[in-house]
Amino acid sequence: MKQLQLNGKWVLVTGASSGLGQEMARQLAHNFKANLIIAARRADKLDQLKTELETSAGIKVKVITADLSIPEEADRVIAECIAGGDLSGALLNAGVTYFGRHTQLPWDSFESILKTNVIGVVRMTNSLVTYFEQPGKEGSLMLVSSMAGYFPVPYQAAYSATKAFITAFGSALHYELTNPNFSITVFAPGGIATEMTDGNKFNELKSWLMPVSQAAKEGIHAFVSRKYNYVPGFLNRVGSVMMNFLPKRFLTGNMSKVYLKSLVKAETE
Ligand SMILES: NC(=O)c1ccc[n+]([C@@H]2O[C@H](COP(=O)([O-])OP(=O)(O)OC[C@H]3O[C@@H](n4cnc5c(N)ncnc54)[C@H](OP(=O)(O)O)[C@@H]3O)[C@@H](O)[C@H]2O)c1
Repeated sequence: MKQLQLNGKWVLVTGASSGLGQEMARQLAHNFKANLIIAARRADKLDQLKTELETSAGIKVKVITADLSIPEEADRVIAECIAGGDLSGALLNAGVTYFGRHTQLPWDSFESILKTNVIGVVRMTNSLVTYFEQPGKEGSLMLVSSMAGYFPVPYQAAYSATKAFITAFGSALHYELTNPNFSITVFAPGGIATEMTDGNKFNELKSWLMPVSQAAKEGIHAFVSRKYNYVPGFLNRVGSVMMNFLPKRFLTGNMSKVYLKSLVKAETE
């Protein structure tokens, strides 16, 4: 399948108000001259990014403020994106986590994680697949999952389960596609230095975090070259392969010790 050509084409990036989404939007604008539709809840951050990119990269940017944990809002975003019939790609990147003991995660927060990371993503994917499967359409969809979806992560139990869903869902759906010019990529980073990992609970894990610019660069590479599943960072890629040969109990048990140490340290500060 040929690489995506994005010069002057419209691409949706969800969760573009910070972190990985914001950086992928910047790189799509500067390095690929794509026009962008950027979506998230924080309108001020999206407006700032629009001004920055229209001025510095000379591209067009549309802002859509939306809470993607609400299915009707997710529908509205996709309806606005496909109305002109010229959408060429979508990066479904918005996501939230909770780092702590699962028993201390309030039910409404759990539902919010599930609705943002799974329900909203599936809702948008359904409409996007219908759009891109039409004859004559060309494009690509990338679902941002996580290495936390490759193996269970204690103290991020709910988050890790939502990402396991996204990895399985996107990887399976890829093979249901019938349009040879449309593809689905699952992007699964390890830790990245963003707002998500900013809190002191992550202090002990900070040396593992990848700079957001590198994660974004590899994410855009995976998207443009239509990879099937892609893990950024050579060591992470090796680790993701090695994981298949190690007992899950060993991996999860060791992960549990590292995460608990970081959590307890933050709690006692
Ligand atoms: N950081 C990591 O270590 C890491 C590792 C692997 C995978 N990932 C994945 O990478 C993606 C981006 O995360 P990040 O690290 O860049 O975190 P981040 O800086 O916290 O960004 C999360 C983005 O998602 C948006 N978002 C969250 N809830 C939303 C909602 N209900 N409706 C609309 N937008 C919403 C946020 O915007 P608003 O708050 O403005 O709505 C923000 O733009 C996530 O899917 C995450 O799971 C992150």
